[in-house]
Amino acid sequence: MSISKKVTVPKLKKMKERGEKIVMVTAYDYPSAIIADRAGVDIILVGDSVGVVELGYENTIPVTIDDVIHHAKAVVRGAKRPLIVGDMPFGTYLNPEQAVFNACRIIKESGVDTVKLEGGREVAHIVKAIVRAGIPVLGHIGLTPQRATMLGGYKVQGVDAESAMDIIEDAKSLEEAGAYGVVLEFTAAEVAKVITEELKIPTIGIGSGPYCDGQVLVLHDLVGMTFGIEPHFAKRYAEVAQVMLNAIKQFANEVRDGKFPEEKHTIHMKYDEYKKLTSKFE
Ligand code: KIV
Repeated sequence: MSISKKVTVPKLKKMKERGEKIVMVTAYDYPSAIIADRAGVDIILVGDSVGVVELGYENTIPVTIDDVIHHAKAVVRGAKRPLIVGDMPFGTYLNPEQAVFNACRIIKESGVDTVKLEGGREVAHIVKAIVRAGIPVLGHIGLTPQRATMLGGYKVQGVDAESAMDIIEDAKSLEEAGAYGVVLEFTAAEVAKVITEELKIPTIGIGSGPYCDGQVLVLHDLVGMTFGIEPHFAKRYAEVAQVMLNAIKQFANEVRDGKFPEEKHTIHMKYDEYKKLTSKFE
Protein backbone atom coordinates (compact mmCIF):
# COMPACT_ATOMS: atom_id res chain seq x y z
CA MET A 1 0.00 0.00 0.00
CA SER A 2 1.28 3.48 -0.88
CA ILE A 3 1.53 5.61 2.25
CA SER A 4 1.50 8.96 0.48
CA LYS A 5 -2.13 9.31 -0.71
CA LYS A 6 -4.84 10.79 1.49
CA VAL A 7 -6.84 8.09 3.27
CA THR A 8 -10.51 8.17 2.30
CA VAL A 9 -13.67 6.46 3.56
CA PRO A 10 -13.85 4.05 0.55
CA LYS A 11 -10.17 3.21 1.07
CA LEU A 12 -10.92 1.97 4.60
CA LYS A 13 -13.54 -0.44 3.25
CA LYS A 14 -11.02 -1.70 0.69
CA MET A 15 -8.47 -2.22 3.48
CA LYS A 16 -10.99 -4.41 5.29
CA GLU A 17 -11.69 -6.40 2.11
CA ARG A 18 -7.95 -6.92 1.58
CA GLY A 19 -7.34 -7.83 5.22
CA GLU A 20 -5.04 -4.82 5.76
CA LYS A 21 -5.14 -3.64 9.38
CA ILE A 22 -6.29 -0.06 9.96
CA VAL A 23 -4.22 2.03 12.39
CA MET A 24 -5.87 4.88 14.28
CA VAL A 25 -4.59 7.13 17.07
CA THR A 26 -5.96 10.18 18.78
CA ALA A 27 -4.24 13.56 18.46
CA TYR A 28 -5.25 16.97 19.68
CA ASP A 29 -2.53 19.37 18.51
CA TYR A 30 -0.30 20.35 15.59
CA PRO A 31 2.97 18.61 16.59
CA SER A 32 1.25 15.33 17.52
CA ALA A 33 -0.65 15.42 14.22
CA ILE A 34 2.59 15.84 12.26
CA ILE A 35 4.22 12.98 14.16
CA ALA A 36 1.20 10.66 13.74
CA ASP A 37 1.14 11.46 10.00
CA ARG A 38 4.89 10.77 9.69
CA ALA A 39 4.38 7.47 11.55
CA GLY A 40 1.97 6.44 8.77
CA VAL A 41 -1.28 6.08 10.74
CA ASP A 42 -4.45 5.78 8.65
CA ILE A 43 -6.89 7.68 10.87
CA ILE A 44 -6.47 10.44 13.44
CA LEU A 45 -9.29 10.90 15.92
CA VAL A 46 -9.66 14.24 17.63
CA GLY A 47 -11.44 12.47 20.46
CA ASP A 48 -13.43 13.92 23.30
CA SER A 49 -10.72 12.18 25.36
CA VAL A 50 -9.03 15.59 24.85
CA GLY A 51 -10.99 16.61 27.95
CA VAL A 52 -9.23 14.06 30.13
CA VAL A 53 -5.71 13.75 28.68
CA GLU A 54 -5.18 17.38 27.62
CA LEU A 55 -7.59 19.51 29.65
CA GLY A 56 -7.48 17.65 32.97
CA TYR A 57 -11.21 16.93 33.40
CA GLU A 58 -12.22 13.75 35.24
CA ASN A 59 -14.24 12.50 32.29
CA THR A 60 -15.33 13.53 28.79
CA ILE A 61 -18.68 15.06 29.78
CA PRO A 62 -17.59 18.75 30.00
CA VAL A 63 -16.01 18.76 26.51
CA THR A 64 -17.72 21.20 24.13
CA ILE A 65 -18.06 21.45 20.36
CA ASP A 66 -15.77 24.50 20.53
CA ASP A 67 -13.10 22.43 22.34
CA VAL A 68 -13.21 19.80 19.58
CA ILE A 69 -13.14 22.42 16.82
CA HIS A 70 -10.21 24.29 18.43
CA HIS A 71 -8.09 21.12 18.71
CA ALA A 72 -9.23 19.69 15.39
CA LYS A 73 -8.12 22.84 13.52
CA ALA A 74 -4.57 22.32 14.81
CA VAL A 75 -4.63 18.64 13.83
CA VAL A 76 -5.88 19.46 10.33
CA ARG A 77 -3.00 21.93 9.91
CA GLY A 78 -0.52 19.22 10.90
CA ALA A 79 -1.74 15.97 9.31
CA LYS A 80 -2.17 15.59 5.55
CA ARG A 81 -2.46 11.88 4.75
CA PRO A 82 -4.62 10.38 7.53
CA LEU A 83 -8.41 10.57 7.50
CA ILE A 84 -9.27 12.98 10.33
CA VAL A 85 -12.27 12.36 12.55
CA GLY A 86 -13.84 14.91 14.93
CA ASP A 87 -15.66 13.53 17.96
CA MET A 88 -19.15 14.77 18.80
CA PRO A 89 -19.19 15.59 22.52
CA PHE A 90 -21.83 14.58 25.05
CA GLY A 91 -25.17 16.33 24.55
CA THR A 92 -24.42 17.59 21.05
CA TYR A 93 -26.43 14.99 19.11
CA LEU A 94 -29.63 14.64 21.11
CA ASN A 95 -31.92 14.90 18.06
CA PRO A 96 -31.33 14.82 14.30
CA GLU A 97 -31.58 18.60 13.77
CA GLN A 98 -29.13 19.45 16.55
CA ALA A 99 -26.81 16.62 15.47
CA VAL A 100 -26.71 17.72 11.81
CA PHE A 101 -26.14 21.34 12.86
CA ASN A 102 -23.23 20.38 15.17
CA ALA A 103 -21.70 17.86 12.75
CA CYS A 104 -21.74 20.59 10.06
CA ARG A 105 -20.05 23.01 12.48
CA ILE A 106 -17.25 20.52 13.22
CA ILE A 107 -16.69 19.80 9.51
CA LYS A 108 -16.93 23.40 8.28
CA GLU A 109 -15.03 25.14 11.06
CA SER A 110 -12.22 22.64 11.66
CA GLY A 111 -11.79 20.98 8.27
CA VAL A 112 -11.91 17.38 9.57
CA ASP A 113 -13.15 14.72 7.14
CA THR A 114 -15.74 12.90 9.24
CA VAL A 115 -17.37 12.80 12.68
CA LYS A 116 -17.77 10.11 15.34
CA LEU A 117 -20.53 9.66 17.87
CA GLU A 118 -21.33 7.14 20.58
CA GLY A 119 -24.31 4.78 20.75
CA GLY A 120 -26.06 1.96 18.92
CA ARG A 121 -29.69 1.46 17.87
CA GLU A 122 -30.82 4.52 19.84
CA VAL A 123 -28.71 6.83 17.66
CA ALA A 124 -29.21 5.06 14.31
CA HIS A 125 -31.72 7.74 13.16
CA ILE A 126 -29.18 10.42 14.07
CA VAL A 127 -26.39 8.69 12.14
CA LYS A 128 -28.78 8.45 9.16
CA ALA A 129 -29.57 12.19 9.31
CA ILE A 130 -25.89 13.21 9.46
CA VAL A 131 -24.96 10.85 6.61
CA ARG A 132 -27.89 12.26 4.58
CA ALA A 133 -26.41 15.72 5.13
CA GLY A 134 -23.26 14.46 3.39
CA ILE A 135 -21.05 13.84 6.42
CA PRO A 136 -19.49 10.40 6.94
CA VAL A 137 -20.05 9.00 10.44
CA LEU A 138 -17.94 6.61 12.49
CA GLY A 139 -19.95 4.75 15.14
CA HIS A 140 -18.74 3.87 18.64
CA ILE A 141 -20.29 1.05 20.70
CA GLY A 142 -19.44 -1.34 23.53
CA LEU A 143 -18.12 0.82 26.35
CA THR A 144 -19.28 4.31 25.49
CA PRO A 145 -17.53 6.68 27.93
CA GLN A 146 -20.18 9.42 27.52
CA ARG A 147 -22.65 6.94 29.10
CA ALA A 148 -20.26 5.36 31.60
CA THR A 149 -22.53 6.29 34.50
CA MET A 150 -25.47 4.49 32.91
CA LEU A 151 -23.26 1.47 32.14
CA GLY A 152 -22.17 1.27 35.79
CA GLY A 153 -18.64 2.56 35.19
CA TYR A 154 -15.79 1.73 32.83
CA LYS A 155 -16.60 -1.99 32.59
CA VAL A 156 -16.02 -4.58 29.90
CA GLN A 157 -19.13 -5.04 27.74
CA GLY A 158 -20.68 -8.10 26.11
CA VAL A 159 -19.34 -10.83 28.37
CA ASP A 160 -22.59 -12.82 28.36
CA ALA A 161 -24.54 -14.00 25.32
CA GLU A 162 -27.48 -11.63 25.87
CA SER A 163 -25.43 -8.43 26.18
CA ALA A 164 -23.20 -9.64 23.34
CA MET A 165 -26.31 -9.93 21.10
CA ASP A 166 -27.25 -6.36 22.08
CA ILE A 167 -23.88 -5.04 20.92
CA ILE A 168 -24.08 -7.07 17.70
CA GLU A 169 -27.54 -5.59 16.99
CA ASP A 170 -26.15 -2.12 17.69
CA ALA A 171 -23.34 -2.70 15.19
CA LYS A 172 -25.76 -3.89 12.50
CA SER A 173 -28.05 -0.92 13.03
CA LEU A 174 -25.14 1.50 12.62
CA GLU A 175 -24.10 -0.19 9.38
CA GLU A 176 -27.70 0.00 8.11
CA ALA A 177 -27.87 3.67 9.10
CA GLY A 178 -24.89 4.39 6.85
CA ALA A 179 -21.93 4.53 9.26
CA TYR A 180 -18.66 3.88 7.40
CA GLY A 181 -17.07 2.08 10.35
CA VAL A 182 -17.50 1.35 14.01
CA VAL A 183 -15.24 1.67 17.05
CA LEU A 184 -15.68 -1.26 19.44
CA GLU A 185 -14.52 -0.25 22.89
CA PHE A 186 -13.77 -2.70 25.70
CA THR A 187 -15.89 -5.66 24.59
CA ALA A 188 -15.14 -9.34 24.92
CA ALA A 189 -12.94 -10.37 21.99
CA GLU A 190 -15.53 -12.90 20.80
CA VAL A 191 -18.19 -10.19 20.33
CA ALA A 192 -15.74 -8.11 18.31
CA LYS A 193 -14.94 -11.18 16.19
CA VAL A 194 -18.62 -11.82 15.36
CA ILE A 195 -19.21 -8.14 14.52
CA THR A 196 -16.08 -7.96 12.37
CA GLU A 197 -17.23 -11.03 10.42
CA GLU A 198 -20.86 -9.90 10.12
CA LEU A 199 -20.27 -6.30 8.98
CA LYS A 200 -19.04 -5.08 5.61
CA ILE A 201 -17.77 -1.86 7.19
CA PRO A 202 -14.52 -1.92 9.20
CA THR A 203 -14.39 -2.38 12.95
CA ILE A 204 -11.74 -0.54 14.94
CA GLY A 205 -11.06 -1.97 18.36
CA ILE A 206 -9.85 -0.47 21.60
CA GLY A 207 -9.61 -3.08 24.32
CA SER A 208 -11.71 -5.48 22.23
CA GLY A 209 -9.09 -8.03 21.24
CA PRO A 210 -7.23 -8.92 18.06
CA TYR A 211 -10.03 -9.75 15.62
CA CYS A 212 -11.06 -6.19 14.67
CA ASP A 213 -10.16 -4.72 11.27
CA GLY A 214 -8.08 -2.07 13.00
CA GLN A 215 -6.94 -0.81 16.38
CA VAL A 216 -7.04 2.59 18.05
CA LEU A 217 -5.25 3.87 21.15
CA VAL A 218 -5.36 7.20 22.91
CA LEU A 219 -2.04 8.85 22.03
CA HIS A 220 -1.20 9.80 25.62
CA ASP A 221 -1.66 6.19 26.77
CA LEU A 222 0.60 4.82 24.06
CA VAL A 223 3.43 7.35 24.47
CA GLY A 224 3.36 7.49 28.27
CA MET A 225 1.87 10.93 28.91
CA THR A 226 -0.90 10.02 31.37
CA PHE A 227 -0.96 10.81 35.07
CA GLY A 228 -4.03 8.94 36.36
CA ILE A 229 -5.52 5.51 35.92
CA GLU A 230 -4.62 3.88 32.64
CA PRO A 231 -6.88 1.36 30.94
CA HIS A 232 -5.27 -2.08 31.28
CA PHE A 233 -5.74 -2.69 27.54
CA ALA A 234 -3.55 0.26 26.57
CA LYS A 235 0.06 -0.59 25.75
CA ARG A 236 2.70 1.99 26.69
CA TYR A 237 5.28 2.17 23.88
CA ALA A 238 7.34 5.06 25.30
CA GLU A 239 7.90 7.17 28.41
CA VAL A 240 7.47 10.66 26.95
CA ALA A 241 6.49 12.24 30.28
CA GLN A 242 9.75 10.97 31.80
CA VAL A 243 11.77 12.32 28.83
CA MET A 244 10.09 15.74 29.27
CA LEU A 245 10.59 15.70 33.02
CA ASN A 246 14.31 14.99 32.62
CA ALA A 247 14.71 17.73 29.98
CA ILE A 248 12.91 20.38 32.06
CA LYS A 249 14.85 19.43 35.22
CA GLN A 250 18.13 19.74 33.29
CA PHE A 251 17.08 23.16 31.95
CA ALA A 252 16.18 24.33 35.48
CA ASN A 253 19.52 23.13 36.87
CA GLU A 254 21.50 24.80 34.09
CA VAL A 255 19.65 28.11 34.53
CA ARG A 256 20.26 28.01 38.29
CA ASP A 257 23.94 27.10 37.78
CA GLY A 258 24.45 29.80 35.12
CA LYS A 259 25.26 27.18 32.47
CA PHE A 260 22.42 28.18 30.14
CA PRO A 261 22.41 30.08 27.84
CA GLU A 262 25.87 29.30 26.42
CA GLU A 263 27.82 31.43 23.95
CA LYS A 264 26.23 29.55 21.01
CA HIS A 265 22.74 30.58 22.17
CA THR A 266 23.74 34.26 22.50
CA ILE A 267 23.66 37.14 19.97
CA HIS A 268 26.07 40.09 20.41
CA MET A 269 25.99 43.67 19.09
CA LYS A 270 28.81 44.80 16.79
CA TYR A 271 31.66 46.27 18.91
CA ASP A 272 31.28 49.87 17.61
CA GLU A 273 27.51 49.80 18.27
CA TYR A 274 28.21 48.54 21.75
CA LYS A 275 30.69 51.39 22.32
CA LYS A 276 28.12 53.93 21.09
CA LEU A 277 25.58 52.50 23.49
CA THR A 278 27.85 52.39 26.53
CA SER A 279 29.07 55.97 25.87
CA LYS A 280 25.55 57.12 26.71
CA PHE A 281 25.95 55.73 30.21
CA GLU A 282 29.44 57.09 30.94
O1 KIV B 1 -12.32 10.04 22.52
C1 KIV B 1 -11.60 9.07 22.26
O2 KIV B 1 -10.37 9.10 22.37
C2 KIV B 1 -12.26 7.84 21.80
C3 KIV B 1 -11.39 6.64 21.64
C4 KIV B 1 -11.29 5.93 22.95
C5 KIV B 1 -11.89 5.74 20.58
O3 KIV B 1 -13.42 7.82 21.60
